[in-house]
Amino acid sequence: MSKNIDWSNLGFGYIETDKRFVSNYKDGAWDEGALIDDPMVTMSECACVLQYAQTCFEGLKAYTTEDGRIVCFRPDLNAQRMADTCKRLEMPEFPEDRFVQAVVDTVKANADYVPPFGSGATLYIRPYMFGSNAVIGVKPADEYQFRVFTTPVGPYFKGGAKPIVIRVSDFDRAAPHGTGHIKAGLNYAMSLHAIVDAHDKGYAENMYLDAATRTKVEETGGANFIFITKDGKLVTPKSDSILPSITRRSLMVVAEKYLGMTVEHREVYFDEVKDFAECGLCGTAAVISPVGRIDDHGKEICFPSGMDEMGPVTKKLYDTLTGIQMGKIEAPEGWIKEIK
Ligand code: PLP
Ligand code: COI
Repeated sequence: MSKNIDWSNLGFGYIETDKRFVSNYKDGAWDEGALIDDPMVTMSECACVLQYAQTCFEGLKAYTTEDGRIVCFRPDLNAQRMADTCKRLEMPEFPEDRFVQAVVDTVKANADYVPPFGSGATLYIRPYMFGSNAVIGVKPADEYQFRVFTTPVGPYFKGGAKPIVIRVSDFDRAAPHGTGHIKAGLNYAMSLHAIVDAHDKGYAENMYLDAATRTKVEETGGANFIFITKDGKLVTPKSDSILPSITRRSLMVVAEKYLGMTVEHREVYFDEVKDFAECGLCGTAAVISPVGRIDDHGKEICFPSGMDEMGPVTKKLYDTLTGIQMGKIEAPEGWIKEIK
């Protein structure tokens, strides 16, 4: 039985659901793990995660299809990306097949919280891992916890598909050869001041430029950029210091194979941005959120698609991607994982 939740008015917030998956790593091995009821975490006051921020996470969603199945989108890529993150943070990898199984089991156990088809809401899935034993010298933990919880969510940005206004940030997100390409909690800790400051000034997000030269577009705090040229190409920034978004990688395929568009994955200079016809943020939480205007220290870049609705090409990408995710459009082989 679906829970009594006002699905259509959900924002992007945390709502506790019934079950979460937990597995502990000790003496060099992961235990078999279990679904548990307790949403609280208890650990040492000196846990590596609390002192040195040794933590990472993933994010994906489960959807109800029109014919009532529950599915999720490319969980194998989240498993892979978490393994890459763990290597960089000296954390033990959670085996990729077990990651996918844990996602499936957790969603199944919380099936009543998967929003109905057409409600505009989805079940957000948050796998994460942290160093849990006491560490006071700067070194990695020996013990870890891997967990997966779920929470029903609506749109990440208020107003859903309404174009947002963002600003060019004076703060940097990621250093060359740093940790921008992995999903480490520390990347988000350092973005909190920048996002609070942006919100205070009326902006929905920050556009980060490359830290070395401040001439190239990187990403926002929680999504990659897509741009549409005036002749209908998809352009999306390539950089070693941005998160390899699964949504962005999927959109590149959707654009080329489903919509017959030319796709350019390359360095994008900030100077070029004023010449694009449409701009959007893409990610699991953001889906595709259209950007209507970018403020750069008093100079405004206003996209021809305007402030009222998504640009026409962005809309086509959005409809095709979400159509695939919700089972209305046939997905490429292996993109949809059946849960129930
Ligand atoms: N970039 C950042 C910094 C993110 O936090 C996210 C969210 O996961 C993304 C991009 C989008 O990645 P994905 O499409 O895999 O959700
Ligand atoms: C996601 O899209 O899953 C993320 O992790 C982004 C975060 C800002 C919510």
